[in-house]
Order: sequence, then structure tokens, then C-alpha cells
Amino acid sequence: MARINDNYLKLQAGYLFPEISRRVKEFTSANPDASIIRLGIGDVTKPLVPAVLKAFHEGVDDLAKGDSFHGYGPEQGYDWLSQVIIDKAYRPLGVELKNNEVFISDGSKCDSANILDIFDLGNKVAIGDPVYPVYNDTNVMVGRSGQINDKGYYEGLVYMPCTEENGFTPAFPSEKVDIIYLCFPNNPTGTVASKEQLKAWVDYAIENDAVILFDAAYEAFITEADIPHSIYEIEGAKKCAIEFRSFSKTAGFTGVRCGLTVVPEELLGTTANGEKYSFNKLWNRRQCTKFNGVSYPVQKAAAAVYSDEGWAQVKEIIDYYMENARIIREGLSAAGIECFGGVNAPYIWLKTPQGMTSWDFFDKLLNECFVVGTPGSGFGPSGEGYFRLSAFGERANVETAVQRIKEKWGK
Ligand code: MLT
Repeated sequence: MARINDNYLKLQAGYLFPEISRRVKEFTSANPDASIIRLGIGDVTKPLVPAVLKAFHEGVDDLAKGDSFHGYGPEQGYDWLSQVIIDKAYRPLGVELKNNEVFISDGSKCDSANILDIFDLGNKVAIGDPVYPVYNDTNVMVGRSGQINDKGYYEGLVYMPCTEENGFTPAFPSEKVDIIYLCFPNNPTGTVASKEQLKAWVDYAIENDAVILFDAAYEAFITEADIPHSIYEIEGAKKCAIEFRSFSKTAGFTGVRCGLTVVPEELLGTTANGEKYSFNKLWNRRQCTKFNGVSYPVQKAAAAVYSDEGWAQVKEIIDYYMENARIIREGLSAAGIECFGGVNAPYIWLKTPQGMTSWDFFDKLLNECFVVGTPGSGFGPSGEGYFRLSAFGERANVETAVQRIKEKWGK
């Protein structure tokens, strides 16, 4: 009989967001009349903007005609999409990329998991705590960890606590590692890293021969000047970093699916013989074998995000979500609930009232306020006692949720 991958059995709980959905479903079947407000998973609520929708439709219509039909596309994505991303998203930051360094994909969740294919299992990995659970769980799944210990950490993985004391920005790993996951603006804490902080990470990675896996999925939500949108704004980063970006939150593509990964040619690893080898070549080889590219209409829609009209429309929605973030952050802070994030990211990281555990607060919030959020401990042990609210809701719902929380726990 075929053996299973036993590493999956090391995972303690189901994936965080399906577990939340399960609890919410249970609650709604018992309370069908409760008007639930969902500020849990960071899923967008606004529809695709007109310019993007138009390009999407045109892409579909192209498929209906013989002379504009598209079958298999390039596994790396169409050049016209990579090029518009380079021109519109990177060049204004002072970052020059080559077309073959940008790989279009069906999202950065998949890419940040799939990237492990091109790294040796013996590499030591450092991740934040709390952290986007994909980084942790996928390393467990491939067998890079031992069992979970009684503190909630997997043996063999190196954790970098992100706490109020360090401003939710991790200190360098406590031991030598080969791969470092960084996510800024951060999911779940909503905090950002300054240029100086990122420079310190780049210097550290180069000095220690480590690769940074930089998740920039929320860069479009940065509102303050001087906060880097890309790790490649830091000198030397092309030698040590892979960057993930996503259209999901930026342009409402959570259901449409499109993202990108930048693997610079300058980024090298070592072979078993100690020779240098290009990660770009490996990722290209991996994608050509395991991926057939993103559908043509989706890529047309993604390219339209960067048209003048498309960007203006997308930006308006980003501003709408960030106004939600302000309403949550300021509303709850004024009521005496300690809040972090929400200025350069669509997430508010709050301290649970009355020292409740994250899951106790989740249950109370659901049962008594009919509001769904995400328990901080679901992102890692250092998230215990914290709670994440997403700013992607409809305005009226966000205002009602804040009101209900204030009435219940405000001081
Ligand atoms: C989240 O809520 O953390 C995100 O929506 C998850 C994701 O992007 O996969």
C-alpha cells in the first residue's frame, strides 16, 4: 500500500482560515438570523474595477476568434505583462529588472509554497512568529521540521518572535540559517520595515549566505513615504532575495488569481559540489515542468491594472480599504483597545481585551457581536493574546463592527 507523506501528520491543526470558516458555519447554522460581519480572512469585497473588467472581457472575446485565440501561453507569463510590471511597478522605485526575472503565477500563496522545490531540504529556515501560516506549514509538509513542541514551535525551524517590545519587527535569527522569510507590510501585524531595517536584513543575508524570501503582497497599501515597496530598493538585494507580489488584494484578484515572483539572475546558491548556481534557472525549470501559466484573459486583466485608468480606479479602492483601516484603528484605540498596524497595511493587530486568549476572544466576538476576526495565536505562539481584523469589508459593516466591539469592550 502506498505510504503517505507522514510530515502532514505533524501539522497540529487544520489550516487556519478553513478552521475559522468551519466555526462560523457552525455558528450560522445554529443562529441563522445573526447578521455576521466577516473581517477574518483578508478577502476583498469590492468588485473588479471597470478598466480591468473591460480587459478581462476582451481577453475572453479574443479566445472566441481564430485569429486572436490563445492556447498554451509561456509558463513564465506573457512578456507584455512582465514588461508592464517592470515599467510601472518597479522602475518608478528605481529598480531595474529583466523580463526573464519576472515570473507570472496564479498567486503568491502558491509561489511562496512552491519555491521550496528549488531549495535543498537541509537548508535551515527562519520564519517570523506570528507569521503567515503558509511559510510554517509548507516547511513542515516538505519535511524540514520535526514534531511540534509544547510551546507550539516545530523542531528544526528557527522562529523570530515579533512582539510589542521589538515593534513586531524580528531580530536576526538566533542561529545560522539559509533561508529567511520576511513579509512587509506584515501579515498579520500590519507593521512595516524602514529602509534602514531592510538594509540591515540584506547585509545580514549577504554576510551569512542566506536567501531572503520577501513577501510584498501588501506593498500597494503603504501610505507613508520612505517605506520601501520592494526589497530591491535596497542595494545588494538582487544578490540575496526573491520577491513575491500579488494582484489579490491590490486589484481584487483573490478569486481571479494572479501574482508574480521575481528571481534575479544575480541570485546564486551552491550545488552539492560547492559550485555557484542560478536560482533563476532553477525556478524557470520548475515552472516549465510543473506549471502551464496563468490564463490569457487573467493576464490581460492584470496588465490593465497598470493602465492610467486602471491604476486610478484600483487606487481608489485601496484608499477605501485604508479608510476602513483608519476607522477600525482609531475607533478601537479611542475605546481603549490597543491597536497596531492599519497605517500601511489593511490589517489591524489588536491586543485582546481583558487579557483573553485569542480563541476565547474569537468565540466571544462571534457569539456576542456577530463579528468574525482571526485569532492571533493561529499565526504562531507569539500571536497569543492578539487578534487580527481585516480592513477589506464594506464600510457600513466595518462601522457596525467597530461600534459593536466598542459597546462590548470599550473603556
Ligand atoms: C489572510 O487573510 O491572511 C490572507 O487572505 C491569506 C492569503 O492571502 O492567502
